[in-house]
Amino acid sequence: MKVISLLSRKGGSGKSTLTVHWGVEAQKTKGNRVVLIDTDPQGSCSSWYNKREAETPLLIQSNTKTIKDHIEACRADGINFVIVDTVPDINNLAVHAARVSDLVVIPVRPSVLDLESISASIELAEGIGLPAVIVLNQAPPSSTITDEAKTALTNYSLPICPVPIFNRLIFCRAMIDGRVAGEIERKGKAATEIRKSWQWISSQLTGVES
Ligand SMILES: Nc1ncnc2c1ncn2[C@@H]1O[C@H](COP(=O)(O)OP(=O)(O)O)[C@@H](O)[C@H]1O
Ligand SMILES: [Mg+2]
Repeated sequence: MKVISLLSRKGGSGKSTLTVHWGVEAQKTKGNRVVLIDTDPQGSCSSWYNKREAETPLLIQSNTKTIKDHIEACRADGINFVIVDTVPDINNLAVHAARVSDLVVIPVRPSVLDLESISASIELAEGIGLPAVIVLNQAPPSSTITDEAKTALTNYSLPICPVPIFNRLIFCRAMIDGRVAGEIERKGKAATEIRKSWQWISSQLTGVES
């Protein structure tokens, strides 16, 4: 079983959106059983899940006290992937989520303020001794900003997902009724970005002990 947690100090960077999209993507591989863990009291993933018609992926609501037990229950139950959505803050809850993870994924929007704020997430992962990767989200289409952001991020010497997720209305639409972009437009650009970024994240997990 692999556990991935999405961390970022900034609200709105796309943690919840990417959690559910990658969760559904991971579930597509035959035989995979996926659990999303929502540790954010705001409950964005839970509200998506409550509107969802499909039965997978599963979702558990958790907190600092219960997360370890929930993870162990998933392991005992033969779950393949757990994806943990966290609060938009680097607080106790985020630390607990990171501690039970194999990989920390830091989504970031390519804006100066967001880029500057990611050092807290990186320090948290480093402090715990966990591998961390960066994924650019809500990149503006046809703009050099994304390339500039990638260059700025190289200072952190963390792997950066080669597939940015662009700013697409379909990601917002999907959250409204408990679907993902690829369930609205199966062959759309958003679906491709999610498929390829998930493939890359999975490749980062190979060799990581769990
Ligand atoms: N790639 C994207 N394109 C367009 N809108 C996005 C994208 N990712 C997230 N959003 C929107 O941005 C807002 C914040 O996303 P959310 O996933 O709730 O962030 P977080 O969980 O980090 O606070 C939501 O309205 C969501 O629909
Ligand atoms: Mg959220």
